[in-house]
Amino acid sequence: MGNCLTSSPCHSSSIRSRTLSSTPGTSSNYSRNVGFSGSTSSTAGVSQFSEAASVDVSEPSLNGQILDYSNLKEFSFSELKLATKNFRPESLLGRGGFGKVYKGCLDEKTLAPCKSKYGMMVAIKKLNPESVQGFQEWQAEVNFLGRLNHPNLVKLLGFCWEEQDLLLVYEFLPRGSLENHLFGRRSSIDPLSWEIRIKIAIGAAKGLAFLHASEREVIYRDFKASNILLDMSYNAKISDFGLARVGPAGEASHVTTRIMGTYGYVAPEYMNTGHLYVKSDVYGFGVVLLEIMAGLRAHDTTRCSEQRNLVDWAKPLLMNRKKIKSLMDRSIEGQYSLKAAVLLGDLTLKCLETDPRNRPSMQEVLETLEQIEKLKDKPKVFKISNSQSKQLNQRHAKSSSAKRH
Ligand SMILES: Nc1ncnc2c1ncn2[C@@H]1O[C@H](COP(=O)(O)OP(=O)(O)OP(=O)(O)O)[C@@H](O)[C@H]1O
Ligand SMILES: [Mg+2]
Repeated sequence: MGNCLTSSPCHSSSIRSRTLSSTPGTSSNYSRNVGFSGSTSSTAGVSQFSEAASVDVSEPSLNGQILDYSNLKEFSFSELKLATKNFRPESLLGRGGFGKVYKGCLDEKTLAPCKSKYGMMVAIKKLNPESVQGFQEWQAEVNFLGRLNHPNLVKLLGFCWEEQDLLLVYEFLPRGSLENHLFGRRSSIDPLSWEIRIKIAIGAAKGLAFLHASEREVIYRDFKASNILLDMSYNAKISDFGLARVGPAGEASHVTTRIMGTYGYVAPEYMNTGHLYVKSDVYGFGVVLLEIMAGLRAHDTTRCSEQRNLVDWAKPLLMNRKKIKSLMDRSIEGQYSLKAAVLLGDLTLKCLETDPRNRPSMQEVLETLEQIEKLKDKPKVFKISNSQSKQLNQRHAKSSSAKRH
């Protein structure tokens, strides 16, 4: 869920001390305090969840809803233990800054744990007690995702808080993260096509545009490829709201001394001065667009020093239309027109503007991406097969490592 990027010690306090300072008392006491600004809060149990359909909504916008109060189920630890078969290693989906993520199974209607052939799959995130993340991130996730409802945001189904155990239960996204598809072990995953890359960018843009369009804008603060999850049809859903916060009024910024985020994705104004704007998210989106185009990570210490930071290296190439092809991921060669690549490059450059005021809004980004998607004038070259593209990628990897030496 993102990292602290300042040198000052970030919240490494244990959950125990957090729990005491935030909400004294028991977990049932806590559950009464979940919710935005202490207003109507979630209560525990299935009955609360089953009220989902009748919940009042404020501000339906951009195909999403902001619920007046969260309608999450509070799970017991033993229920989640059962759902994941005792958190067995075979159920492990991945791990991040918060802790391990397990696959589990719940009954679709009652959300009670059940056998995998009878129920629906869910993803269960379990806090690692050693993690620098903790109660604050967990609570932000419950407060934000518990109330936000949009097809391009991951659905949070419930949570568990028992003693030191903090867990989150989400809908299961079978294709995992965009990061995994772009940079995972190439031999096990076919490279994403141009068409699917644009589809994913559009889905993620819709999610961010929805957050930014809400009455009190939500600044997401941790936009990156690993936080974009994919369903079976490659619909993108933004996950991890541990760093999200409600935006300042108008064009104002939040000022903070503790910079949170992930290297390579953090906007310069936020990194250098601690000023956080809604447009700081647009910068992060630009970095992901660049990763999608180049098939290269935002920050990679195994690359040579000039290429370590993707933005620094790629910006001059984006500015020169003749050079844009040299930046594009070889595995999608022949799948897009030069016009589409140039448009995407121009959009990326705008998102990466140093001055946040010069960056487009997420709504503008979305509209441009939809125009790019409509461009069907692909070059008349052969469409490369997956095995050919893998070979190209291997060559690409070899040539980059050769450049390194
Ligand atoms: N809802 C989900 N459905 C399917 N897989 C998931 C889900 N949530 C997380 N995962 C898997 O677990 C991995 C780890 O996710 P997690 O969000 O904990 O870490 P991260 O995004 O890689 O890093 P960070 O902690 O910086 O956000 C993901 O890359 C993904 O493969
Ligand atoms: Mg994540």
